[in-house]
Amino acid sequence: MPKLLHLACSPRADSESAAGARVFLEHFRKAHSDWDIDLMDLWRDHLPDFSGAILDAKYARLKGQAFTDAERDGFAAAERIALRLALADRVLISTPMWNFGIPYRLKHWLDVIIQPGLTFRFDPSQGYLPPLKDRPTLVILASGSDFVTGMNRGRIDMATPYMREALRFIGITSVRFVPIGPTTGPADPIRIAREHAHRRLAELAVNF
Ligand SMILES: Cc1cc2nc3c(=O)[nH]c(=O)nc-3n(C[C@H](O)[C@H](O)[C@H](O)COP(=O)(O)O)c2cc1C
Repeated sequence: MPKLLHLACSPRADSESAAGARVFLEHFRKAHSDWDIDLMDLWRDHLPDFSGAILDAKYARLKGQAFTDAERDGFAAAERIALRLALADRVLISTPMWNFGIPYRLKHWLDVIIQPGLTFRFDPSQGYLPPLKDRPTLVILASGSDFVTGMNRGRIDMATPYMREALRFIGITSVRFVPIGPTTGPADPIRIAREHAHRRLAELAVNF
């Protein structure tokens, strides 16, 4: 059964990124009724602290050293989480913009899964290479500011280039972004931005 992994990255009940994901998934399910949707809620699901054995395991791998038992256990935890990505034919990431970038739980997930021999490898003659295959990925990014028409009032968007680069590093280059914003301020621009994004998401879901 083909699988879509959904990383839900907002902790808010009234989340605009989550509302966008609901619209997308409603249309996706209609068009792909046989697909398994694997929801990973980054504010509910356990992510191991990136310290101690799991961190030492990363450095052991980078130095080409054998794991201790504790490092092997630590690395296995990262492997289990990365496997959910590796087995996904499509990926949906719905996330807020926080302080120009991504929320720390999404960064935490990336820190856990971006591991040598798991989601990247290093070849002295070719540099960093991704072992994962590419797969269509959609990032729904909700922001208080408006990064669609440029009415961002002096705040910049580092979430989009950061996510594009982090995903490219692990081999995922077929990435689309659907911004939703402004999500704060006067009601009309919020409603117009939301409606525009939801229309786009409904369209994208059909052939995703
Ligand atoms: C901690 C925090 C930092 C934020 N930083 C930014 C920012 O840098 N730029 C921006 O446009 N909006 C910022 N916002 C507003 C959120 O991006 C906005 O409320 C968005 O709708 C959140 O996504 P959600 O509705 O899916 O939770 C911030 C909100 C919070 C709570």
